[in-house]
Amino acid sequence: MAVTLDAPISWIAAVDEDAQMLGGLQPNILKSHTREFFTILFLKFNVRDDGMSFLRELATDGINPALMKSAMDHLLEVETFKQEGTPGTPYVGVGISARGYDLLGVPKQRQPADVSFQKGMTHNETVAALGDPDVDTWDGHFRQEIHAAIMVGDQLAPPHNAALARIKQMIAERPTISLLGQQKGNGLRNKNGDGIEHFGYVDGRSQPLFLIEDIESETLNSDGTTNWNPRFGLSRVIVPDPCAPDSSIHFGSYFVFRKLEQDVKAFKKKEAELARALDLSAVDAERAGAMLVGRFEDGTPLTTQSAEGNHNPVPNDFTYNSDPDGGKCPYFAHIRKMNPRGSGGFEAEESERLHIMARRGQTYGVRTDDPNDGKVENKPSEGVGLLFMAFNSSIGEQFEFVQMNWANNGGFPSVPPGRLDPGPDLVIGHGARPQIDCPVHWGANFEEHASHRQVDAVAQTVTMRGGEYFFAPSLPFLRTLGD
Ligand code: HEM
Repeated sequence: MAVTLDAPISWIAAVDEDAQMLGGLQPNILKSHTREFFTILFLKFNVRDDGMSFLRELATDGINPALMKSAMDHLLEVETFKQEGTPGTPYVGVGISARGYDLLGVPKQRQPADVSFQKGMTHNETVAALGDPDVDTWDGHFRQEIHAAIMVGDQLAPPHNAALARIKQMIAERPTISLLGQQKGNGLRNKNGDGIEHFGYVDGRSQPLFLIEDIESETLNSDGTTNWNPRFGLSRVIVPDPCAPDSSIHFGSYFVFRKLEQDVKAFKKKEAELARALDLSAVDAERAGAMLVGRFEDGTPLTTQSAEGNHNPVPNDFTYNSDPDGGKCPYFAHIRKMNPRGSGGFEAEESERLHIMARRGQTYGVRTDDPNDGKVENKPSEGVGLLFMAFNSSIGEQFEFVQMNWANNGGFPSVPPGRLDPGPDLVIGHGARPQIDCPVHWGANFEEHASHRQVDAVAQTVTMRGGEYFFAPSLPFLRTLGD
């Protein structure tokens, strides 16, 4: 039997190859790991043997115990927490860049082969294709040759800090390893307890689900799975680890990291300007921001209702089928561009779904204000943002496709004849931003002149500060390094 890749799997019922795969896969790929407290370290190895022994020690069983655990260990910990309330252990994840594989001495033909991964995010062709700012403008450590990213996450500060201290000690014991930089992340939540990003909107809600247990839970404990199908085969997120002892059962995933700084004050000003340009009444003003994101701050999808309030739990069982003209949720809204849910107009729904990726982002930067207090002047202009992190089975077909062909492409999704193109994504799109066509009231009929208005698009308020592509290898690869 081969590992099941074309459908979701049950981890509880997993046997044979599926169980072996889960026992060698890193956590946080198939299912998100809690990481309210989060740090990512960027390393350069310089000397092959020290790099190898460091990675091997991180992953090796029996060392005090090993810092890294498997996806299966994580799933068992989550179950134990549910049954007994016993907290799990911290998440420690490893990503290796293509230059890192070179330094470790892995021959090119045995390295993870994804073309985008091999080029790297700093490659001038990648920068140009993604529309990213010049590498010269990125934060210092992203301009250097990064060999590995080490991630530490936990629900609580003390276990996170203890694991991080242990890893830093391991680095200090090997003077040839350079700690190029580190980035902290920290969970941000609204008054309902839902995770939000710095503009104040619930984030991380819509995810591809790879485990039958998670799909059952979504069906039973959330708003359901009748309209939007969150089931995805594992081939959307994992690939055989080509360097592992047995690539038929040892899997890894391509990991995309991007530091995206958010000018929150500017975004909040733009929301208010849009509300004024559309003459939205005070009670309707929140709809301006919801048009940019596609959800209200509390997560209520704009295509399903005209005001916030549907947040318990935050819905995800919707499509744009009842909103073909964008009279409720405009075509340019971030989530409509990033997942048109079958309404993109360029590909059949099944092909569109091939671009969906597992997002595992975390906010960074400390806030002294309340992100949802409705004020503008107290909002930060710098020092806060999103550590965009995503696991892919193909960077070119997933992250890069979505950033280039959906976010940056002003012509996506397709619109009926005579309508203004959506323009680039107003949260993350790069490139010129032409005027946008907005429904003046929710459920507008675009045939009626007065029901829509063409206004200036909001300016760019998210700046890419640097990043890299990595491969998150299997634990057996790390444990056998140097053999
Ligand atoms: C600072 C940058 C970003 C902000 C503030 C942001 C914000 C959000 C928010 C508020 C949501 C709604 C919550 C949800 O449906 O899960 C969302 C969803 C999403 N975002 Fe972003 N995002 C950012 C960057 C990105 C990037 C770089 C990508 C990919 C290239 C991306 C892709 C997506 C996708 C695929 C969804 C889910 C859409 C759906 O399935 O309905 N986002 N984002």
